[in-house]
Amino acid sequence: MVRVVVFGGTGTVGRAVVAEAVSRGHSVVSVSRHRPRPGDADHVAGVEYHACDLYNSTTAQLDAIVAGSDAIVDSLDGVSTVAQAIFRIGAQQIADAAERASVSRVVLVSSVGCDQSTAEYFAAKTDQEGLYLDSSAPVTVVRFTVLFDMLHDFALRAAKWRIIPTSSRARFQPMNAHDVATVIVDALGDTGDDRVVSIGGPQIATARELTALWLRKTGRSAVMIPVPLFTAMGRYLRFGSNLVPDARVGTETFNEWLTAHSATRASAGRACPNGNHAPSAA
Ligand SMILES: NC(=O)c1ccc[n+]([C@@H]2O[C@H](COP(=O)([O-])OP(=O)(O)OC[C@H]3O[C@@H](n4cnc5c(N)ncnc54)[C@H](OP(=O)(O)O)[C@@H]3O)[C@@H](O)[C@H]2O)c1
Repeated sequence: MVRVVVFGGTGTVGRAVVAEAVSRGHSVVSVSRHRPRPGDADHVAGVEYHACDLYNSTTAQLDAIVAGSDAIVDSLDGVSTVAQAIFRIGAQQIADAAERASVSRVVLVSSVGCDQSTAEYFAAKTDQEGLYLDSSAPVTVVRFTVLFDMLHDFALRAAKWRIIPTSSRARFQPMNAHDVATVIVDALGDTGDDRVVSIGGPQIATARELTALWLRKTGRSAVMIPVPLFTAMGRYLRFGSNLVPDARVGTETFNEWLTAHSATRASAGRACPNGNHAPSAA
């Protein structure tokens, strides 16, 4: 058993990591701004939850949280341009705390091809990776493709307006959060040099195909609007920088996930598979 601190342990990826680590008998500490209560969708029994804002945390606070830990996972996220500062600010503070506590491994949760894009989000992710890889802490970076949850949440938000932006030129290789969590928790046991690993889901399909599938499976109606891929994010998708066809992990497809997801919804509105987002607006 190891003691692991998961920064962002209440997020989509973090929750799956926390659940996987607990299931393997590890002692798990989760850090995020809010502290979930038992019964909340993002609460996992047996986890020690700390409320701490990485924008305002002190060295003493972080040292107290990290003390006695063997490993750290950074699964922080910030979507808005302002919130993306968390990647750099969090990485600096967590890497420093990891060095002071001499943890044996830091695992950074990252995105496939982030260093291939000039989009602000990916530039921040690339800086985050660099901060860790330049630190003296032993680091494993686990880059992965988009999660089923994210595609679902995006479509759900867009469908409220009866319009879903899509493209036949953008392709995705979506995957299950549990499969990502398995690789991340495995990496806690890494020894030796820093390494960067990239993984993706079992199938590659266009955004249009995945959107059509989502509409069919959820029974919703919306117009699919083709969008040009001329922004930095669009170019990243157009060039397929988000794909890793030679590193497929897991077997569950988006089709199968949606089937399981709606079955779970139908049974008393419990959280969706993999311990991820409850389908709040579905
Ligand atoms: N989702 C995907 O499809 C996907 C795909 C590839 C890579 N990734 C990577 O996976 C990582 C996690 O993504 P996610 O989708 O799990 O994000 P998420 O659901 O938004 O979770 C983010 C976590 O960070 C915490 N957090 C944010 N700001 C914080 C702050 N200032 N101080 C302390 N905690 C803070 C959040 O909790 P509070 O809000 O309570 O603070 C939450 O626990 C990201 O690095 C992302 O690039 C995600």
